[in-house]
Amino acid sequence: MAAASAPLLLALALASASILASLAAGDTNGVYDPCSDSRIQRGDGFTFGLAFAGSSAFFSGSTQLSPCDRRLNLANPSQLAVFRPKVDEISLLTVNTTTGFSPASAGGYMVAFAGRKYAARSAPVFVSNSSVTVSSFTLVLEFNKGRLQNLHWKKDGCGACSGKSNFICLGKQTCAIRTNVCKSQNQGTMDCSIGIQLAFSGTDKHESVLNSWYEVSNLQQYSLYGLYSNVKGSLSGQFNKFF
Ligand SMILES: *[C@@H]1O[C@H](CO)[C@@H](O)[C@H](O)[C@H]1NC(C)=O
Ligand SMILES: *[C@@H]1O[C@H](CO)[C@@H](O)[C@H](O)[C@H]1NC(C)=O
Repeated sequence: MAAASAPLLLALALASASILASLAAGDTNGVYDPCSDSRIQRGDGFTFGLAFAGSSAFFSGSTQLSPCDRRLNLANPSQLAVFRPKVDEISLLTVNTTTGFSPASAGGYMVAFAGRKYAARSAPVFVSNSSVTVSSFTLVLEFNKGRLQNLHWKKDGCGACSGKSNFICLGKQTCAIRTNVCKSQNQGTMDCSIGIQLAFSGTDKHESVLNSWYEVSNLQQYSLYGLYSNVKGSLSGQFNKFF
């Protein structure tokens, strides 16, 4: 895979909604390595990575570095997933955790990242430990003139938790599932695979405005059933609230 320059590439690519294959129609971005820089236009594919590790593994001293930065020396068992969504299209990415990969064993936190000279990385976000697992996330990719500026996790609130016995509200803003009911090592029955809803904001290289973020915030009031119906049967998280 193109990302061979990243230090953590002993790690494996886990799962991805879009396959790193030949350029899809309308895709003018030839950069497939999440640790290289690109400038995108609407309709391009954009490659970014997710690294899983303990939260302190993403820091050197008090500075959070990109997982692409060799100084970080992310050790095993940090693990990597690479995605290539289409810019300005609403996508739901999944990392299947029922068949071996355990985010808790990998350290419990994830960071989204892309770029090298123009490196952007999200803050580490809590995914899972032995008691609780967060399975649904919203990631906003913010561009300025086609360059990624920022990646941030948006808090989804605890609405999806209410009235469900196996769900717990963390810090009044994140809905989590009891890890012992999750499939995988825990022998539970619930599919707690990670689902990440993406939204794009800012401008592309022609200064066209990316507005899938606007669409996501509006659509959430209604229903994303059509978009997500292929995974609705298996994802357990708060995406259920849309269906
Ligand atoms: C798991 O994480 C939750 C939320 O961050 C925390 O409240 C809890 O104490 C942690 N449990 C263990 C066993 O580390
Ligand atoms: C994860 O993989 C299992 C086994 O292949 C499958 O049954 C399940 O539907 C998958 N979950 C998601 C969310 O894709």
